Amino acid sequence: MNTILSIAAMNIKFVTPRGLLEAVHEVSLDIPVGSSVGIVGESGSGKTVLSRAAMGLLSGSTVRREGKVVFDGKELTTMTREQVRNEFGTGMAMIFQDPMTALNPVRRVGTQIAESLRIRLGMSKKAAVVRTIELLSLVQIPDPQAMLRKFPYQLSGGMRQRVMIAIAISCSPKLLFADEPTTALDVTVQSQILQLLSDLRRELKMSMVLVTHDLGVVAGNTDYVAVMYAGEIVEQAPTSELFANMKMPYTEALLKSIPTIHMQSGKRLAVIEGRLPDPTSRLQGCSFAPRCPYVQPKCTAEHPPLVNAGNDHLYRCWFPLGQTIARKQ
Ligand SMILES: Nc1ncnc2c1ncn2[C@@H]1O[C@H](COP(=O)(O)OP(=O)(O)OP(=O)(O)O)[C@@H](O)[C@H]1O
Ligand SMILES: [Mg+2]
Repeated sequence: MNTILSIAAMNIKFVTPRGLLEAVHEVSLDIPVGSSVGIVGESGSGKTVLSRAAMGLLSGSTVRREGKVVFDGKELTTMTREQVRNEFGTGMAMIFQDPMTALNPVRRVGTQIAESLRIRLGMSKKAAVVRTIELLSLVQIPDPQAMLRKFPYQLSGGMRQRVMIAIAISCSPKLLFADEPTTALDVTVQSQILQLLSDLRRELKMSMVLVTHDLGVVAGNTDYVAVMYAGEIVEQAPTSELFANMKMPYTEALLKSIPTIHMQSGKRLAVIEGRLPDPTSRLQGCSFAPRCPYVQPKCTAEHPPLVNAGNDHLYRCWFPLGQTIARKQ
């Protein structure tokens, strides 16, 4: 299998006043060339930290990093920040979680895109403007000329996200990380942006990592899914296999927390009771045990390893779904 990005045994810790916070624990993940991979998990599970670390964007005196990242045949972990920066921007790009903080609200859209083209690709002013208009059309903004003169604060959330996507694809990246690209958007605009990403991926032959807390979003938009919980991958499989053959109680709980169009009005959505464990002290057993409806004594005593069920399907559970066990009352 040809991989565009390969993450091996990654550990990321932050030094905090409360001690070492373990944000990512022993994560290994391959992104096959041309594929779309979803990283799913609730808030605080480590999705953004993992993505930023994979792109070489995490540094600083409070970060402790272990593991290996190979992008397009080159090992990023041994590169200097300068080298990573050269790689990032042309090879990899990221759409950040919050477009309003990533865009300068009081500078014109056209200026911001053109400037990033001039800096990163060394384009002339004139060429950068021409390319900016091309990019704005590529992300299906109706009147690109008019958009050049607008300020981000004048745009709707969906339009802002299209501008962010235009910036991200401006250097024709081989791999695009989209970190919660649709979280702040309403359902209709969300599906338009996901459609746009999927069209662009095909047109530009990009691979993509789609980060989201919503299993519904990965269902139609990814080839593979990795489910994260408390900094670890707890289940990973080709998307169709995951939905057909779910193993982890946590993934099932995430699935039950998705609203569906067919849901009776007035019916309450299942929420996952409890909270993520404290990331500064890892539990002895399974991290999900305190919240798991199927918990057994072994689950709180021993940490489950990631095991392979066949069909490329990995899971981290002592008592996977499908086995008959008594449910906790
Ligand atoms: N710079 C930092 N310093 C200390 N802790 C951090 C830092 N960045 C992230 N964390 C912690 O790392 C853990 C994982 O955070 P991360 O942002 O990756 O979660 P996430 O899955 O992206 O959540 P969300 O869905 O809310 O974006 C959290 O406990 C968070 O508080
Ligand atoms: Mg995040």
